[in-house]
Amino acid sequence: MDEIVYLNGSLVPRSGACLSVDDHGFLYGYALFETMRAYNGRIFLLDRHLTRLVDTAETIGLTPGLAGIDLAQACDETIKANHLREARVRLTVTNGDAEVLPWAESRGRCTVVVTARPYTPFPADVYRQGFKVGVASLRRSAGSPMSRIKSTNYLVNVLARTEAARRGLDEALLLNDRGFIAEGGNSNIFFVVGPRLVTPSLENGILPGVTRQVVMELAEKLDIKVIEGNIRLSDLARFREAFITSSVVEIMPLVGVEMETKRLMTIGDGKPGNLTMKLQEAYRAKVREETGY
Ligand SMILES: Cc1ncc(COP(=O)(O)O)c(C=O)c1O
Repeated sequence: MDEIVYLNGSLVPRSGACLSVDDHGFLYGYALFETMRAYNGRIFLLDRHLTRLVDTAETIGLTPGLAGIDLAQACDETIKANHLREARVRLTVTNGDAEVLPWAESRGRCTVVVTARPYTPFPADVYRQGFKVGVASLRRSAGSPMSRIKSTNYLVNVLARTEAARRGLDEALLLNDRGFIAEGGNSNIFFVVGPRLVTPSLENGILPGVTRQVVMELAEKLDIKVIEGNIRLSDLARFREAFITSSVVEIMPLVGVEMETKRLMTIGDGKPGNLTMKLQEAYRAKVREETGY
């Protein structure tokens, strides 16, 4: 059966879904996206994802073109049309079809696309072993507000992930242009020092991840203090545990960091730590509570 996608108000077979060659998302990366995970047919934290997208749409001038579009319904309908329970759902909103000039006014209507595909989580073994990341050769810009939005200008992340995969690693670790740790290629990052969590602050040029925020809220409930600040690679030796977060992967322990020199630095004892596992459990309990999964 052909996959069904949502395109500008209609559910259509993927093979028949057409976008304009002049779409500004395609031409200039003038577009936003969200990647979400559905459990039991329900998107976890859908409201938070839509709030992030709608707030950012305001910042980059996409709000008028989104008027009257029910994005939540579009996402739900796409999952249902594909009869999915466990899925990875992607919502993309572009400036739409407009004159082929980077500064051209939009024709008023955003292009809205939703795809939903079956998602099989990593096996439990992978969560037991943890990820190894590699310090990417590209840097994120700490000062640019663009680093904090989830736009389809994703080239730094794409190239960083590709570089990490070529080095046989699970994820990239991006530093910013001031030399501090920023985030993963598609994830945020946390470290454990003493009884506390530390994570790069938003000023380091990171995406304000939905999962990052939830982890901070869960930590507060568990009486674990979270410090947002500047973290250097030279701090890694002090950390007992580390993990990355994203909507799709949830909380993945991080057990090693490969430096640009190719030297592998082990985090703690090289195994997922107790605090990481405690937060994983709390996160899954929240998923269960909200989706029944
Ligand atoms: C660059 C980047 N940082 C962080 C994240 C994690 O964000 P979230 O928790 O909202 O999925 C992602 C998600 O894909 C990402 O692309």
